[in-house]
Amino acid sequence: MTASDHPQNISGSAIDALMDAAVDAIIIIDSQAHIKRFNLAAEQMFGYREQEVRGHNVKLLMPEPHHSLHDGYIQRYGETGKAAIIGQGREVIGLRKDGEEFPMMLSVGEIEQSDDELYVGIIRDLSDMHAAQEKVRQLEEQLLHADRLVILGELTAGIAHEINQPLTAIAAYADAGRKIIDRNATPPRKEMDFICERMGEQSRRAAEVVQRLRKLVRSGTVSKSKHDINQIIRNTLLLFEYEIKRTNIELTFYPLESLQLLYVDEIQIQQILVNLVKNSLDAISEAGLTGGRIEIRIRESGPVVEISVIDNGPGVSVADQDKLFDSFFTTKPKGVGLGLSICKSISAAHGGNLRYRQSDISGSTFTLSLPLEFIG
Ligand SMILES: Nc1ncnc2c1ncn2[C@@H]1O[C@H](COP(=O)(O)OP(=O)(O)O)[C@@H](O)[C@H]1O
Ligand SMILES: [Mg+2]
Repeated sequence: MTASDHPQNISGSAIDALMDAAVDAIIIIDSQAHIKRFNLAAEQMFGYREQEVRGHNVKLLMPEPHHSLHDGYIQRYGETGKAAIIGQGREVIGLRKDGEEFPMMLSVGEIEQSDDELYVGIIRDLSDMHAAQEKVRQLEEQLLHADRLVILGELTAGIAHEINQPLTAIAAYADAGRKIIDRNATPPRKEMDFICERMGEQSRRAAEVVQRLRKLVRSGTVSKSKHDINQIIRNTLLLFEYEIKRTNIELTFYPLESLQLLYVDEIQIQQILVNLVKNSLDAISEAGLTGGRIEIRIRESGPVVEISVIDNGPGVSVADQDKLFDSFFTTKPKGVGLGLSICKSISAAHGGNLRYRQSDISGSTFTLSLPLEFIG
């Protein structure tokens, strides 16, 4: 469209009215980056009056490092005609008069005129949106944390047992050592050595359990790094040792040693597994089954790895299958119904998913798929 296609030229005062009615901040600068116009919304956003900033370099509104780099951007555009920013909005940081920095969406357009080039920047303050996103993130984190605490509460007996066992062993070694000392004027070096060695081993084992628990109990931000999934699963299953013995349920893990390291949040993957295994244990126990069995299998399938928790419990009725992953869906008298919905969102945050199907051993199979290569 050329200028002559316009039905009529828009007067200066009409442009003023438009600028001041705009909800977004609008700033017009010349080719030297000097501010020519600064609308009402810009005044409110940045805290300057138009008179204060007119004629000033627009970098006044940018924190470092862009403050210092901006002259270079403009110069490069003058020389190459290439501006990274023109024509596409991007998120940048702005600087208010009072020194506060804030996230903003900036889009820049060019107004070609015969005498001098003008650029118009349209700016939206993203602070509120970011604050809302942060709030949602915090709530999600709290929910994940709460779920871990609930599960740990349910596993308390097993955890206590896991810590108690090495402590009992240490006490027994100490007693044995005492007896040897009592019986011998010069205690045999070899035996004492052995006892000290075992005591050290057992206390390290107890410390490791505590360490693992502290990780699970800790609330904190997600931190993904490369992990061996087999190892994560082994560590998780240790939490169930006692429960498994108590209930006589057989739990078998089939690792896939050839699996490459995956980029995951260790605690969150543990959380999925703990939830799935606990659900299987609950399902088998509630059905009053003897010969209960749980299998954990891993396999690679194209670009993903599939981790399945398979049980021979009662399975899920067709009517309930659609609701399984809904928040607060539970069939247990004391259930909360958040486990599977949380597992599903953790999977999604890892670029994967979680599905249910009937298992070949007539109960449930929950399969977590995770991409082998994840960028996120
Ligand atoms: N392995 C399973 N076998 C049978 N039913 C299951 C299994 N896992 C989950 N479910 C069903 O899904 C429901 C929701 O599970 P979940 O979200 O973990 O919440 P909760 O365990 O608190 O009930 C359970 O109440 C149960 O009815
Ligand atoms: Mg559950």
